[in-house]
Amino acid sequence: MPTDLELRAPDGQPSSRTVVPDRETKRPEREFVRFTRLQRALHACMIISFISLALTGMSLKFSYTAWAVMLSRLLGGFQTAGYIHRTAALLMFGVFATHLYDLYRLKKHEYKSWRALLFGPNTMLPTRQDLKQFLATMKWFLGMGPRPLYGRWTYWEKFDYFAVFWGIAIIGSTGLALWFPILFTRFLPGSFINVATIIHSDEALLATGFIFTVHFFNTHLRPEKFPMDTTVFTGHMPLAELKRDKPLEYEALVASGQLEANMEEPQPEIVVRTIRAFAWIALSLGFSIVVLIIYAMLFAYR
Ligand code: HEM
Repeated sequence: MPTDLELRAPDGQPSSRTVVPDRETKRPEREFVRFTRLQRALHACMIISFISLALTGMSLKFSYTAWAVMLSRLLGGFQTAGYIHRTAALLMFGVFATHLYDLYRLKKHEYKSWRALLFGPNTMLPTRQDLKQFLATMKWFLGMGPRPLYGRWTYWEKFDYFAVFWGIAIIGSTGLALWFPILFTRFLPGSFINVATIIHSDEALLATGFIFTVHFFNTHLRPEKFPMDTTVFTGHMPLAELKRDKPLEYEALVASGQLEANMEEPQPEIVVRTIRAFAWIALSLGFSIVVLIIYAMLFAYR
């Protein structure tokens, strides 16, 4: 199939003929639609809830530091920080439930069966091809091979996605135990609440560290995206980026004649600017939280 990129490679394996075009400088007339409006809204709500949970949670965890005292004063005191924490947790549970419902809708209207959704070419589940692409990427990092040709979801995007499922299960269930200790100790021993506190606290630290370093790097800080990738906020990706970042998806869309149906005019400039401001605030808060945690762990003592 003719494309303006040399893409041919069996099973998404590296092709030495891949051409990586430069970043587009002027606004394109039409862009590829990667995320629906609901998906974008859910991601924005997830950001708001996660940053609120991390800010309030870390101010409780490191309450012996001067920054935590200042932060909790700003939030209205440690007790109010606790209320904000619980409200943000409800928002996160709401986002998760809505996403599951969205998957069900996707299965019903687009994929027609769970099998097609879970095991089709665009699956979010890890596959053997992801393992191959992971290994090929490591080789590429070491200068021992070309960049692999990725499809709709890369292995690191799948990893980030399932980290949320894992996080909700562990942090969410232990958080509920801390919230409703009397209910939980009706069927579990009292010592479970102590264990739940440790698990909740340490898993929260891991999640915060991961999201605000690895996830931020993978999405925004790698050279092709630096300083920010707005795709998940605008829902749109310039066609040149789709060809460069996800050549297998591009090829499949061209082959099935679906590409044209997935192109739209870019978001209005004012929307893009507002989105950028929101994303910059989120990125800055995330990085600041990491710096405060590192400071507390290295220099502050109980
Ligand atoms: C999603 C559901 C969650 C629920 C239901 C929940 C609930 C709670 C509750 C009830 C507490 C005790 C607060 C208090 O004593 O006033 C707490 C503490 C805490 N939460 Fe959460 N939380 C959730 C998610 C998170 C997330 C996503 C993070 C971090 C990213 C987090 C970080 C923390 C931390 C660090 C503490 C303090 C633990 C300590 O004292 O060492 N929580 N949480």
